[in-house]
Amino acid sequence: MTATSRLEGFYRLSVPERQRRLTDRYNLTENEITALTNGGLSLELANRLIENVVGIHGLPLGIATNFQINGRDYLIPMAIEEPSVVAAASHAAKLVRNVGGFTASADAPLMIGQVQVVDLRDIDQARDKILDARDEIIRLADSKSTLVEFGGGTRDLEVRVLRDTRVGPMLIVHLIVDGRDAMGANSVNTSCETIAPLIEKLTGGRVVLRILSNLADKRLARASCRVKKEDIGDDVVRNIIAAQVMAEVDPYRATTHNKGIMNGIDAVVIATGNDWRAVEAGAHAYAARSGQYRALTIWNRDATDDLVGSLELPIVSGIVGGTVNAHPLAKIALKILNVKTAPEFACVLASVGLAQNLGALRALAAEGIQQGHMALHARQVAISAGATGAHIDRIAEQLVAEKKINLLRAKELLQTS
Ligand code: MEV
Repeated sequence: MTATSRLEGFYRLSVPERQRRLTDRYNLTENEITALTNGGLSLELANRLIENVVGIHGLPLGIATNFQINGRDYLIPMAIEEPSVVAAASHAAKLVRNVGGFTASADAPLMIGQVQVVDLRDIDQARDKILDARDEIIRLADSKSTLVEFGGGTRDLEVRVLRDTRVGPMLIVHLIVDGRDAMGANSVNTSCETIAPLIEKLTGGRVVLRILSNLADKRLARASCRVKKEDIGDDVVRNIIAAQVMAEVDPYRATTHNKGIMNGIDAVVIATGNDWRAVEAGAHAYAARSGQYRALTIWNRDATDDLVGSLELPIVSGIVGGTVNAHPLAKIALKILNVKTAPEFACVLASVGLAQNLGALRALAAEGIQQGHMALHARQVAISAGATGAHIDRIAEQLVAEKKINLLRAKELLQTS
């Protein structure tokens, strides 16, 4: 049994009280609480992570509550600057929880590594040579791979023939690599570089690129859920389906629809130290796989007229390796999330994305997004105007009451407070 994610009134607690609740639950150490409080990254560590460091850029880390996925409760750490996202995810997760939570699944964590071969005299013969040497290439690909000792490594090899390109025909060799619980990027790239000389020898061609593909369509995650029509209202269900259909047929809307999904997924990916650009790139490419950019979700009514939704997308994220292990806050976020494998993590990410989309569509289909959003936005406006401490909430409340959430008014209020 896992502890419940239904933390009633969590949002009303002070930050130290919320930290205490997490400490009780996860046995967080004093160092971990200090890391949560100050952002976790020392200047010295930051300086080792990237180049030309001049400082540290912080983001708020929040916890989305109410998530139940495949029968298990999860608290979801989210790093994001946008107000409303954590609240919307928690609210949507509560609606879904009322009818049993999310159902999710994920493929084995198979990455694709690409080796591009050009300047080929006989492209068909080159392809056959590569396929004949399949076992030797896979052995070589794994010879320097750090994944093998963890049960991962190259599982297969595919060859794609592109006959008609601007620079002549080319072969693309795909290494299908099981990254186990890591994202796997470094190992995949190493394997691609390792096999390049053999590929050139076999084909007589010239290898140019040796790099993974972020369109990880062998590493898909899926989530689905149901919401009772009584919980949101039949009109809202009807409007959500109309909104869904717009995102299926109109790329302008689909882009915003999918952006809302990624609000949730990115926030968890960032909190856990993963590469959010990789997940973003894969998601959007997958959304365009039919030739037209479309919604990543599907929303419909079921036989009882309840709302049912599903989401499928590639997830290239891990729970070990790289920044995941190097960033103190990423380690704490994973401790809170308490996932045991990368596919379980992918299930969580897909469920959070679906919840986030549900939260946005429900608000858009009912009262509109601005009502809730502007109330939270007012706090940022108050801060921008220079408010500190208790003044922030007081000025924000006044801005909302006056329905004048702008910097000028915030500055006036600050001067008279
Ligand atoms: C805002 O960050 C996200 C939304 O625009 C998503 C959507 O329109 O579905 C609210």
